[in-house]
Amino acid sequence: MRLAGKVALVTGSSQGIGQAIAIRLAEEGANVVINYRSNPEGAQETLDKVVNAGGQCHMVEGFTVQADTGMVADVQRMVDQSVAHFGKVDILVNNAGIEKNADFWDVTEADYDAVLNVNLKGVFFGTQAFVKHLMATKQPGKVINISSVHEELPFPHFAAYCASKGGLKMLTRNLAIELAPLGITINNVAPGAIETPINTKLLNDPEKLNALLANIPLKRLGKPADVASMVAFLASSESDYVTGTTFIVDGGLLWNYQEQ
Ligand code: BGC
Repeated sequence: MRLAGKVALVTGSSQGIGQAIAIRLAEEGANVVINYRSNPEGAQETLDKVVNAGGQCHMVEGFTVQADTGMVADVQRMVDQSVAHFGKVDILVNNAGIEKNADFWDVTEADYDAVLNVNLKGVFFGTQAFVKHLMATKQPGKVINISSVHEELPFPHFAAYCASKGGLKMLTRNLAIELAPLGITINNVAPGAIETPINTKLLNDPEKLNALLANIPLKRLGKPADVASMVAFLASSESDYVTGTTFIVDGGLLWNYQEQ
């Protein structure tokens, strides 16, 4: 029970990695705000699992908030509603993310904006709203961003996605310095290929899937729970001396290079 008494807000937690994080933090004793954009059924499923996860040891509460994290007014309202409901937020997990597959020369302004708004702008201003809450209440806090191996690794045909994740890497390093005097830590978790809805197309294409598996030294895709356990550590006081860094959770994918 590393998070008893804490409140965690997890963006994009109606499915995939975000859902696993919400459940895992509840297992650690945290009350959880579940954010969704367009999937209320998924958010309800997460809520049921959160309550169930906490229920085994002691009461854990969940609360769902609809917000498009690509919109600044929405992320600010999301933080306000979370504070209004639970009285505070201690942990912000910026998990919501989207990607669009297109050749660089075909990327539209609308697709570029959609990706950058959710993956970077929403994180920027959501974190700002969270930091203002912590400053007003003179509390320490933890920010955990779900980035990607593609904050380092090129991903052809996903140029906007890579730009957003590279930006997230630098934002984290910058804020680590600026927020440290406030007792706020910030870190990235960089998943590799994880079995989630963002990957549905790939998972259903045996040829592409096998090519990907050949590049993963641990020879399997990751599970959302593999990412959630790293987040649980970063959300807990066990990581109090850790800030401004990225934790790669990818089965060895990123640094795998072999000469044939
Ligand atoms: C992307 C996935 C991709 C994985 C490994 C993730 O960041 O969202 O689409 O399969 O990286 O390349």
